[in-house]
Amino acid sequence: MDKLIIRGGNRLSGTIPISGAKNAALTLIPCALLTEEAVTLRNLPRLADIDGFQHLMTQFGVSHTIPGKRPEEFGRNVTLEAMRITSSVAPYDLVRKMRASILVLGPLLARTGEATVSLPGGCAIGNRPIDLHLKALEAFGAQIELAQGYVRAMAPDGGMPGGEFDFPVVSVGATENALMAAVLCSGTSRLINAAREPEIVDLCNLLVAMGAEIEGIGTSELTIHGVRKLHGATYRVMPDRIEAGSYACAAAITGGEVRLEGADAHDMGSTLHALRNIGVEVESDKHGVNVAANGTLKAHNLTTAPFPGLATDMQAQLMSLLTRAEGTSVLKETIFENRFMHVPELTRMGANIETTGRTAVVRGPVELTGAEVMATDLRASMSLVIAGLAAQGETTVRRLYHLDRGYERLEEKLQLVGADIERVGDD
Ligand code: UD1
Repeated sequence: MDKLIIRGGNRLSGTIPISGAKNAALTLIPCALLTEEAVTLRNLPRLADIDGFQHLMTQFGVSHTIPGKRPEEFGRNVTLEAMRITSSVAPYDLVRKMRASILVLGPLLARTGEATVSLPGGCAIGNRPIDLHLKALEAFGAQIELAQGYVRAMAPDGGMPGGEFDFPVVSVGATENALMAAVLCSGTSRLINAAREPEIVDLCNLLVAMGAEIEGIGTSELTIHGVRKLHGATYRVMPDRIEAGSYACAAAITGGEVRLEGADAHDMGSTLHALRNIGVEVESDKHGVNVAANGTLKAHNLTTAPFPGLATDMQAQLMSLLTRAEGTSVLKETIFENRFMHVPELTRMGANIETTGRTAVVRGPVELTGAEVMATDLRASMSLVIAGLAAQGETTVRRLYHLDRGYERLEEKLQLVGADIERVGDD
């Protein structure tokens, strides 16, 4: 298995191109199930998770073509066509590798009247139940059965009428599944306390481009007037706000100055606000975001929350940055129950972090030192890369498959701005 070797201490400087958003792509791809016409997605990131999801789509009879391979560029365009759905079963073997597979449930059910999807099971950052996905579909008129590790959802004869669902907890995935089901219901549906992450807005925008009728886009109350049919569309995936935020932390921890080309400052609001409070200069224009740090960082307290609050997916990276900040920072994780798994590894690199339940207290600044580390999830892995960039000596990050799930050509992008980082095969 490959590993990353980072020799810390280089100040990052230059431009990093930001890829299409992984989490947006993972909900845009299943939209192709909603129409017999072709859906072309532009700017899809080249990631293991995206390849995996495309593979899952072939299970249902969806064809995909990649017009014009251009290996030297980031991103790619893919056309998905679900002229006929040949199966509405998502088997365990495909689902277990990728939790986001649950996002085929809503669109398959809406298009064919039934869907059978393996339960995704636990994952490294907590239990991650799917009860709200199922309750929303039930509210629209679906009948749900659980048996042998599978969810079977069935629409009544004549399709789902639609209905109202008030989310007791804000859930990105459940909002996405509900939206993809509601667009083809025969009546009007209402989602209350819906997630309003930028990726949800991206999903709504694609659905509208396909002929859906949605009111309240960008708010926590969505009204969906069902339509009989959707048509094809061509759509560009939004820039990845978490990738951009991660590289902003990487630049800042090295006292560097980096332009995040293509990043959208509006979507990154709470991350950029946090960075400013930590002492990082942030400027933005229509085409990107510039961050600059002068080497002195200030402690700052942070609490994760649903959008527009601070993304839980930025918590680990900001924690690495705060190990180098002057003073004591308190970080509270409110979304997932088990999301501090990077802490023991950061501690091995010299960080002073104490955790109690969902709170971490970071005391800084410390001198980080290189170590052999590994992480159990995507963002935790990135936090170790960020720490490695500022550490004295060599850091080896193992289990790269986590990073490959979510960061397109990570080491190449960091090399572009002067990082000493390389991917090597394990001995
Ligand atoms: C998505 C993102 C993930 C991000 C998370 C929160 C994708 C592929 N993943 O995950 O990167 O960290 O949003 O911004 O887009 N919950 C329930 N019941 C449910 C569903 C969720 O109780 O049926 C709870 C979860 O346990 C969690 C909270 O709701 O505590 C938020 O989870 P959710 O927003 O659903 O996360 P995902 O969609 O899985």
